Amino acid sequence: MQLNKQDKLKQKVAIKALDYIVPNSYIGVGTGSTVNFFIDALASRKNDILGAISSSEESTKRLKNIDVDVFDMNEIDAISVYFDGADEVDENLSLTKGGGGALMREKIVAALADKFVCIVDKSKLVTHLGGFPIPIEVVPMARSAIARYLVKKYQAEPVYRSGYKTDNGNVILDVHCLDVSNPEQVERELNQIPGLVCNGVFYQQSADIVLIADENTVVVKEHQNF
Ligand code: A5P
Repeated sequence: MQLNKQDKLKQKVAIKALDYIVPNSYIGVGTGSTVNFFIDALASRKNDILGAISSSEESTKRLKNIDVDVFDMNEIDAISVYFDGADEVDENLSLTKGGGGALMREKIVAALADKFVCIVDKSKLVTHLGGFPIPIEVVPMARSAIARYLVKKYQAEPVYRSGYKTDNGNVILDVHCLDVSNPEQVERELNQIPGLVCNGVFYQQSADIVLIADENTVVVKEHQNF
């Protein structure tokens, strides 16, 4: 299959991520088109790991297709590295995620992992988060109330992702025009809204390492505290 330019970059960064696999450990696997390339590449290294913890039904299916054992997170007490993409990456390696709707499990697996290696093509780099609408996962009965609250408190524009259900049986609001200039504060405030189960701002679970593919190379950025 002929890949377009962006997919070539996604594939390149996904292959580079294999260098960060810790042998004989459990790895976390995210969700999305970049991770799909990572899973394809993982086929060549599957015997080096004990298994994977997956952030979505979609990734689970793909991992099983390449014969990687997928474990329930309750069975595992340590994940060496979590590999996932992002919708946006800022210079502090804070992220927005959830374009694919798997944000809640992604945040949970990222939190358990010793290290979060984020894999992106250069189009994901931004000066300020929030240009991409922030997905929030909400319990269905709270959808309209939360949407009204976001309009009133933040003058934001939540859009219901119609016809979409998360793997957890919840729904998604894609929140446009939300000021994310202080990601730490926005993530914390959103987490306090009853009925909102997860938001797509990854400040607490920011990446430890971001691999960024451009046409020439894969740039490695490490978190300053890492
Ligand atoms: C999935 O829910 C998301 O968080 C993805 O990690 C993110 O949207 C990046 O996806 P792509 O690799 O498809 O751009």
